[in-house]
Amino acid sequence: MAITSTPRSTTEDDITAEALRRFESTPDTRLREIMLALVRHLHGFVKEVSLTEREWFDAVQFLSETGRMCDDKRQEFILLSDTLGVSMVVDLINHRKPEGATESTVFGPFHREGAAEMAAGDNIAPRDSGTPMIVSGRVLDLGGRPIAGAKLDVWQADSSGLYDSQYADSGELHMRGMFHTDDEGRYLVRTVRPVYYAIPDDGPVGRMLRATNRHPWRPAHVHFVVSADGYEPVTTHIFDDSDPYLESDTVFAVKDSLICHFVRHDDTDERARQLGIDPPFYTVEFDFVLKPRV
Ligand code: BEZ
Ligand code: FE
Repeated sequence: MAITSTPRSTTEDDITAEALRRFESTPDTRLREIMLALVRHLHGFVKEVSLTEREWFDAVQFLSETGRMCDDKRQEFILLSDTLGVSMVVDLINHRKPEGATESTVFGPFHREGAAEMAAGDNIAPRDSGTPMIVSGRVLDLGGRPIAGAKLDVWQADSSGLYDSQYADSGELHMRGMFHTDDEGRYLVRTVRPVYYAIPDDGPVGRMLRATNRHPWRPAHVHFVVSADGYEPVTTHIFDDSDPYLESDTVFAVKDSLICHFVRHDDTDERARQLGIDPPFYTVEFDFVLKPRV
């Protein structure tokens, strides 16, 4: 015999209300806020698109495969977050910079700990055959005063568009270095001109991009994390203003203030001679401005 009592959740809205109720007494107020919003939005999304069971199962498989592809060299979940634009929304919410401070952008999955300490002018690309490039500038505070001893953790893809960790024999670090500013806040990095490159697209994220008619390209850039005692560190890139993918970076990471002119030189000059660089080569100047730590 059927038991008659208060009706249980019968409609999809009842399930949503009941799921929300079960998270109501989460002791940590931030976790409560996040879980309630997650359930609200996730249920709202499923209802909005009337998700079929097949689609739900495909999504579970997609996420499982994304997880299976992750290891210490490949972070498919970061790629997913980046290509969905989520990483940049998180970046923008968390790094609202005062006027004049250098803007941040995505960290990306290719940073590695342990880059060698380098002196001003050292070459982070000794085994690369790309066109030499000198990156120089200063690290300043918001008042334009130089910050001496600031640290610049620098990395980039090689001139084939690959990071060192993407090669089979990826033990040795390449295209990376740790620089420090001098007493006038100046830094000097020797590298090669970066090229646009495709993010790894042989996994579920690549399938998602192809299925949605999107390309996997990132405009040419050099990565920096710039830090100094008493200041907020900034994770950022500098971009080449002539790059064809500036408008359509697959991870949405371009900000106008980070676009620089990479100047081509067909004749030598004093600095190039000192660094042992033959023309042609490129130069780019960029000043990083840090805001004080709160
Ligand atoms: C990168 O610039 O290294 C990167 C950022 C996001 C996704 C893939 C690569
Ligand atoms: Fe990159």
